[in-house]
Amino acid sequence: MSWWRRAGGAEPFSVAPSVLSADAARLAEEVAEVEAAGADLVHFDVMDGHFVPNLTFGPHVVAALRPHTHLSLDCHLMVTDPRTYGLRFARAGADAVSFHVEVDLDHAALAAELREAGVRAGLVLNPPTPVDARIRGLLPHFDYVLIMSVHPGFGGQSFMPEVLSKLRELVRIRTEDGLDLPLEIDGGIAPTTAGAARAAGADILVAGSAVFGAEDRGAAIAALRRAAATGLPA
Ligand code: DX5
Ligand code: ZN
Repeated sequence: MSWWRRAGGAEPFSVAPSVLSADAARLAEEVAEVEAAGADLVHFDVMDGHFVPNLTFGPHVVAALRPHTHLSLDCHLMVTDPRTYGLRFARAGADAVSFHVEVDLDHAALAAELREAGVRAGLVLNPPTPVDARIRGLLPHFDYVLIMSVHPGFGGQSFMPEVLSKLRELVRIRTEDGLDLPLEIDGGIAPTTAGAARAAGADILVAGSAVFGAEDRGAAIAALRRAAATGLPA
């Protein structure tokens, strides 16, 4: 069992509902509901009002939800200061913490600090950021890579298919460099896009509005799984 797939999961990919689109007044129930509905992990979109123009929640929300689920908590930091906040999310009970390559800092050093604190470190690439030699050099320091398929900041945006080539490139590099590196895709994932994302190599599919916007979360997650399993656009 890997940290990014729930025990007994049949498929080699996972679905990570983003609580950004959940009912904020009922977060514990929302998380319990998606766990019961077959989610593999829970995705937290942390926004600081600086790196992106939106503001969401801090480590105290993650700490408050930790006792309410057995699933791994995947914290995606869209913040200009991940050095300050990354470890706070680790201490709050996160299982994985990702931060953006577009933020100017020593990415390998922060990844090492997060790993030292007992969490998986993820590297996030915005849509315009290419998979180049610098990214390739950073990969051995990380436990997963998150490819943004929308510009970060808000849920409910349209999927950008042009980022799929970066997944394919990362799959190639992962094989060549012998890395154990699950690939996560985030933004606009729905039954119409999950197949193409999976076919390009996504291992973890983040979905906010496609899960929490649906009345029946179980049906929504099942539809995403079916679409991803085809490996083709629906
Ligand atoms: C965007 C966030 C995403 C977003 C996904 O800044 O990183 O996780 O919540 O939401 P949907 O699935 O609605 O595009
Ligand atoms: Zn996210």
